[in-house]
Amino acid sequence: MDGASVSVRGLGKRYGAVRAVEGVDIEVRPGEFLSLLGPSGSGKTTLLMMIAGFEVPTEGSIRIGDRDVTYVAPNWRNIGMVFQRYALFPHMTVADNVAFPLRMRKVAKAEIARRVADALALVQLQDCGKRLPSELSGGQQQRVAVARALVFEPPVLLMDEPLGALDKKLREQMQIEIKRLQQRLGVTVIYVTHDQEEALTMSDRIAVMRNGSLEQIGSPTELYDSPATPFVADFVGKTNFLEAVCHSCNGTGLEFGLGQSGFIYLKECPPALATPPEPGEKMRLAVRPEAIRMVPPGDSDNRPLNGVVEAVIFVGSFRTYLVRLTGGELLHVQASTDHGMSPPREGDRVGLNIPSQAVQIFRKRRQ
Ligand SMILES: Nc1ncnc2c1ncn2[C@@H]1O[C@H](COP(=O)(O)OP(=O)(O)OP(=O)(O)O)[C@@H](O)[C@H]1O
Ligand SMILES: [Mg+2]
Repeated sequence: MDGASVSVRGLGKRYGAVRAVEGVDIEVRPGEFLSLLGPSGSGKTTLLMMIAGFEVPTEGSIRIGDRDVTYVAPNWRNIGMVFQRYALFPHMTVADNVAFPLRMRKVAKAEIARRVADALALVQLQDCGKRLPSELSGGQQQRVAVARALVFEPPVLLMDEPLGALDKKLREQMQIEIKRLQQRLGVTVIYVTHDQEEALTMSDRIAVMRNGSLEQIGSPTELYDSPATPFVADFVGKTNFLEAVCHSCNGTGLEFGLGQSGFIYLKECPPALATPPEPGEKMRLAVRPEAIRMVPPGDSDNRPLNGVVEAVIFVGSFRTYLVRLTGGELLHVQASTDHGMSPPREGDRVGLNIPSQAVQIFRKRRQ
């Protein structure tokens, strides 16, 4: 099975006054795993339903391969689909569920039996064909749904929060299984999730949705390291925001004032900013918790920010410190401490070093 490209241009959907999706352009490459990531109500399902053909767009077009399918009925698009729940027909056996798309396509009986067996083997459920869905675990049921979606060898597979009903451990296991299967088959996958970890784990690229529009599209590392907007910085991974005023911007770097909390120095202006900040301009800075280094307080050589540890949170293999800066801002710091410095405890004063390259700068008016 070869994956097909999916091209979405200027796609929009209105329900009365509600703009569920607006002006979305996405080019999905053949065999790519693309996730649609966004908060509840951001238009992910509506976008997926238009690609599947269950919703008619108000504007724009959809192509699969070199074929315009904007107004083609769902069963003529040759797309596999896995929904979040209620996916299987409860009164049919597992084998009959998987056979369903082939029966609809009037495939010969012997051929159906062979392909159902293959599809069940693909998701490692070869011995479960005679059972009813209610006799399977949640994870097994979703694997049957995946087998049913893949049995007719579609070039495109759409999945809408397929693991949403599963517990965390099973979800993580299924993420790996689905990803492996997709790579083995070469099928193009468009995968809806509001779980950023899931999107980061599975995707070649992630399209971040917000209020029906595409906020940014890029690889997991691009989104994580170079978020285009504060929304993306906040939604993909954890981040700290700091309100700052640009004090100076010249050949030797940029200085930002954080009021009573101190200063942050950057060696150079991030290339993502079209024009450098002007002195006096209010900006929003974003810093990842793991980019901050903890140092002894008041070390004037390093000019750190100073603060007090308000809480220490154990998260398995690392610790997160909540540090209150002198000016009142609360920062999440996921730090290894400086060599020779013992891990701080609640109430301790600490210094924070923020490396230049770890700071994202956003213009206030562009939020
Ligand atoms: N049939 C409908 N009629 C009216 N409004 C709708 C309809 N379907 C969706 N909407 C609205 O369109 C917007 C986008 O909905 P959509 O279901 O696409 O979001 P979503 O990103 O999938 O959210 P979730 O993560 O909660 O599933 C929402 O504001 C929703 O209320
Ligand atoms: Mg949805």
